[in-house]
Amino acid sequence: MSAVPTLSSSSNQPFDVTPWSQNHLARVEQALSQWVGDGAPAGLGDAMRYAVLDGGKRLRPLLVLAAYEAMRSGAAIAAVFDDAALRAACAVELIHAYSLVHDDMPCMDNDVLRRGKPTVHVQFGEAQALLAGDALQAFAFELLAPESSDIPADTQATLCRLLARAAGSAGMAGGQAIDLASVGLALTEDQLRQMHRLKTGALLQGSVLMGAACGHAAGVAYQALSDYGAAMGLAFQVVDDILDVVADSATLGKTAGKDAAADKPTYVSLLGLTRAQAYAQELLGEAHAALGRCGLPDTRALAALADMVVRRSF
Ligand code: IPE
Ligand code: IPE
Ligand code: MG
Ligand code: MG
Ligand code: MG
Repeated sequence: MSAVPTLSSSSNQPFDVTPWSQNHLARVEQALSQWVGDGAPAGLGDAMRYAVLDGGKRLRPLLVLAAYEAMRSGAAIAAVFDDAALRAACAVELIHAYSLVHDDMPCMDNDVLRRGKPTVHVQFGEAQALLAGDALQAFAFELLAPESSDIPADTQATLCRLLARAAGSAGMAGGQAIDLASVGLALTEDQLRQMHRLKTGALLQGSVLMGAACGHAAGVAYQALSDYGAAMGLAFQVVDDILDVVADSATLGKTAGKDAAADKPTYVSLLGLTRAQAYAQELLGEAHAALGRCGLPDTRALAALADMVVRRSF
């Protein structure tokens, strides 16, 4: 990327994240609704659509689009990359939705409520839930490498690699393995941080990196956005641990109090509520500091999303 302008006045203007989110979410919802489950046989499409549509905060797609826009605020980017960013936004949500379907299954967290509805295996049976997760994962990568597209092949490959890394054994799946192996154990803070970075942080950081890649991020900007993603991603799971204790099931749309009931190590079990909350704030500060050194003119959407991650109530 060529040299970016120094901090412009636009980034000092007040920023209302609500219309920004609504506008971007409309595009994401429309695309997901159009693409997911299309033509899938034997009820599989219904299970896939049930898992993805009508619910969820869609934080990961918003992070992809916010990171892409931050890059675009610093340099002109060809319109074809708008398509790449929208595809990346949907792909990461598909991986996330698949991870929730499997996370809720009896062999993992055995949850019956997700996004305010019965979980996929409750609604469609375990075999169909397993397959819906499998199919969503595969479809995520198909979306990133469309059959006929002007998106350059190297961008398609980079997006596939970033998403695969965030979802696989070095990311979400690896973290989930640690999570299951840690039931009833007293992890050290380092071990817990590593588990959370992998099972949840990696996909959130990956979302930022995918958006950055669509905007040709390199060097200082890429590293700062990566640091932002790491801090915000870890903060997200610290807050998830906190909400499991302080929020109710109706607000969360999933069963509260599950972590203690299942004897899972969490930031609350390790540090207590007050210190866990302070840690989330500390990570939020790290996320903002990283944005401060990225050199991009307008990172207001990324800043607002980090605030949302830590201040959310569900
Ligand atoms: C829940 O993620 C699962 C975790 C990674 C902790 P979200 O809280 O983003 O779930 P939705 O997408 O809004 O339902
Ligand atoms: C799940 O963490 C992270 C995933 C990879 C899905 P949790 O098990 O804490 O997520 P919730 O609380 O069920 O949403
Ligand atoms: Mg879990
Ligand atoms: Mg769970
Ligand atoms: Mg949780």
